[in-house]
Amino acid sequence: MKKALVTGVTGQDGSYLAEFLLDKGYEVHGLIRRSSSYNQERLEDLLTEEEANALLNNSNFHLHYGDVTDALNVTRIISEIKPDEIYNLAAQSHVRVSFDMPGYTLDVDAKGTLNILEAVRILSLTEKTRVYQASTSELYGKVQEVPQKETTPFYPRSPYGVAKIYGFWITKNYRESYNMFAVNGILFNHESERRGETFVTRKITLAASRIAQGKQEKLFLGNLNSLRDWGYAKDYVECMWLILQHDKPEDFVIATGEMHTVREFVEFAFKHTGIHIEWQGDGIDEKGINKETGEVIVEVDPKFFRPAEVEQLLGDPTKSKTLLGWNPTKTSFEQLVQIMVEADMRKVENEEKVKVMFD
Ligand code: NAP
Ligand code: GDD
Repeated sequence: MKKALVTGVTGQDGSYLAEFLLDKGYEVHGLIRRSSSYNQERLEDLLTEEEANALLNNSNFHLHYGDVTDALNVTRIISEIKPDEIYNLAAQSHVRVSFDMPGYTLDVDAKGTLNILEAVRILSLTEKTRVYQASTSELYGKVQEVPQKETTPFYPRSPYGVAKIYGFWITKNYRESYNMFAVNGILFNHESERRGETFVTRKITLAASRIAQGKQEKLFLGNLNSLRDWGYAKDYVECMWLILQHDKPEDFVIATGEMHTVREFVEFAFKHTGIHIEWQGDGIDEKGINKETGEVIVEVDPKFFRPAEVEQLLGDPTKSKTLLGWNPTKTSFEQLVQIMVEADMRKVENEEKVKVMFD
């Protein structure tokens, strides 16, 4: 039985990946942070009630308290598990927040990656343990080429992107210096019903569902013109695994090859709740109007603008299609929006009216 360690297991991707690996017959170890509030909702989906009860005694799923910024802790956990595969998904992953917390983002996203690679090296596991690093299309930032592929030069536009560029290069450097199977998946945006609630897609699908059910008045957004290559997270975790099963350690772009504006995402999301949007005005005065009632339900709030923006991202998935046999459009853009809206329409059914939205 293969053993995998997943950092960031409580996050969107970590929860899907743990599920995927358990289905493949892996013994899965997840790193979780101590938190004053419960942070394991996404993991509950992994377990039947029976499995949850059996978890502590006899299960293939194990949780370890830890933090990637704590090198001693990470080294001890890796030395105890001696995993065949490590998926380093832990990150301060919010781009706008990285402008507020650049130092912390650096500690987690850059130094955290080094801590894992160093642990593998110090413990003499370089021949046994394969390491996957969660790299990102944010590395391309102010894009130097359209579409972006593995050879496109990087130009990050946020403290998050700059910290992740260290993660990318240190992974490649350990591969070249110590002959490790250490690789980067350069993933473009991927979303799901488990997406964090302050990323734009989930913010939109939750708000559209609440507005349709009379539980929220308006949705405030930043840059409506921003273009993203959005895929489905459940499809993308399969690719992380494929990258580690490949015969050679190589970096791969994972994307759909299609991009849409935030404005289009808003239109599709509301459409699935039965509301049709009409746009009026420009720039910060642009408003989304409910065509049937004439009410303003979407407005621009400059507080959601970023000090430096990534205007567009479009990935070229040719390499992952050809070498890994991965299908980038298993779930279409419209299906993705529909999956998210349907899940949120169910979720908000039993909610009270929203009092205030800070983010
Ligand atoms: P996410 O939902 O924000 O999850 C991040 C995970 O990292 C959470 O489990 C979080 O724990 C954990 N974490 C944060 N700081 C940590 C620390 N210091 N030590 C240990 N764990 C820590 O992110 P995601 O969307 O699943 O993304 C997974 C990874 O892929 C991230 O590295 C992200 O940067 C990268 N990525 C994501 C996308 C995307 O579109 N989703 C695209 C490219 C790359 P808590 O639950 O306790 O906060
Ligand atoms: N979050 C947010 N909130 N974004 C908004 C809003 C808003 O109210 N209004 C407009 N946007 C725009 C942002 O300015 C950005 O251009 C785009 O919507 C997407 O924002 P996010 O959903 O926050 O994602 P991201 O693209 O910045 O970062 C995500 O994808 C990266 C891969 O490209 C994150 O998952 C990163 O961790 C990941 O690396």
